[in-house]
Amino acid sequence: MKYQLLTSKTLDKKTDCLVLGVWDRTGLDVPPEMLAPVVLEQCNSVIKSGDIKGKPGETLLIHAPAKAATPRILLVGLGDKNKFDAKAYRKVARATAQALSKTPAKTALVSLVQVTITNRDAAWATTQLVMEVGNALYRYDQTKSKKADKPALTSLVIAAAPDASRKAMNDAIDTGEAISLGMSVARELGNLPGNICTPSYLAERAIELGMRNKSIKTRILTEKQMEKLKMGSLLSVGHGSKEESRLIVMEYKGSRKAGSSPYCLVGKGITFDTGGISLKPGAGMDEMKFDMCGAASVMGTMTAIAKLGLPINVTAIIAAAENMPSSTATKPGDIVTSMSGKTIEILNTDAEGRLVLCDALTYAERFNPRTVIDIATLTGAAVATFGEVNTAMLSNNDALAQELFAMGQETLDTVWQLPLDDEYQSLLDSNFADIANIGGPKAGTITAACFLSRFTEKFQWAHLDIAGTAWLGGGQKGATGRPVPLLVEYLRKQKA
Ligand code: BES
Ligand code: MN
Ligand code: ZN
Repeated sequence: MKYQLLTSKTLDKKTDCLVLGVWDRTGLDVPPEMLAPVVLEQCNSVIKSGDIKGKPGETLLIHAPAKAATPRILLVGLGDKNKFDAKAYRKVARATAQALSKTPAKTALVSLVQVTITNRDAAWATTQLVMEVGNALYRYDQTKSKKADKPALTSLVIAAAPDASRKAMNDAIDTGEAISLGMSVARELGNLPGNICTPSYLAERAIELGMRNKSIKTRILTEKQMEKLKMGSLLSVGHGSKEESRLIVMEYKGSRKAGSSPYCLVGKGITFDTGGISLKPGAGMDEMKFDMCGAASVMGTMTAIAKLGLPINVTAIIAAAENMPSSTATKPGDIVTSMSGKTIEILNTDAEGRLVLCDALTYAERFNPRTVIDIATLTGAAVATFGEVNTAMLSNNDALAQELFAMGQETLDTVWQLPLDDEYQSLLDSNFADIANIGGPKAGTITAACFLSRFTEKFQWAHLDIAGTAWLGGGQKGATGRPVPLLVEYLRKQKA
């Protein structure tokens, strides 16, 4: 996709599709003098006919009069002018992107980002639009024998106010493109089936990422190397599988300051989670191919920040394993020793995410990280609590939690914090080891984070449980690419 900026006093330009906003009650959003008279007349008569009411996200594709510079016009409802906030705009941008992806238009001229949004500016609106277009154009077809029809759209012109800062708007386009590329990377990896996307497949993709970006260096640790590091907890998860586990380390160096400490991202990469000996029920188990979406979001974020060339250092660590039952699998009651030296009683082999993450988190210590954020499809309880709307966040540092919350609100890739009170820690007591890997039926998302907190005492840490937000089920089954927008925004705001 090619994106261009148009800062002109007229929208009377050659394009395959002109996109205009329509307010509920007050009609067309653009000043009449910006449109060719024939186009203005056509739009106004369609609006008057009641075929589009201007409800937020409503769309209507109409043909333009023969004399117009565009063959078609996409009218998009904006809703109530006084209530036009960030969420209403996103609805509009999403509907626009979806409608455009279905037309045969190769080019489009979109007049939307200059509308007044109560709590956002035009640069934000531009980034969102570019992200939504990127998301709407994504097609999964890697494992289909008939390739999906590629959407026709290849070029989008974004009309901005004539006095808009071109630099700010072009930066906003670049940001949107980088985030949408990162989301596509995350979605594609997430959507791939478990028989293709194995731990070693993830490792190969990470090596490829390092080869394509000279600012990223990738290293892969094999099981043998992890044994040397005494990662007994991580290794216990892959014991039942013929697929070897991998620890993937990607170092992005964008800082010009020598020795600048990195921000650290840690991703859960369970390429398939059967539950192991504590086997999951069969219904819907296929969705456990998405159990590497934390890892996928980390790889997507690294792709995006490399494209943006952020002036900071970021180290990504992905713990990749397949959780299978077999005669070599870890059994309930088994006790393993983690890299930190702490012993763990594995009471439920389905609580495997924390087992791989704890060793990856201990490994993160060696980078002297400024902050560590782990991203994991960790608990069904997070789905029960927040559904598909919010990512659950838990942290040992209030400033970091507040920052991530704010970035979630900014990007609309929202997170909501749960408490990490000491009182929950005793639920993990074990009679046979330093800690148990489950905390019983109550407060599942919190006790999972409590477990991780035992391995994050040496740094500022936040945990993002994306079990509810990383993929959608039902008819729209597929990975969402969340929380790439949140992570990219967080990293964009950091200093070297
Ligand atoms: N990957 C699952 C979490 C999950 C479940 C994500 C359903 C999305 C939908 C994780 O490994 C798991 O199995 N967690 C268990 C933990 C329990 C055994 C303490 C869970 O949440 O049921
Ligand atoms: Mn599990
Ligand atoms: Zn899992």
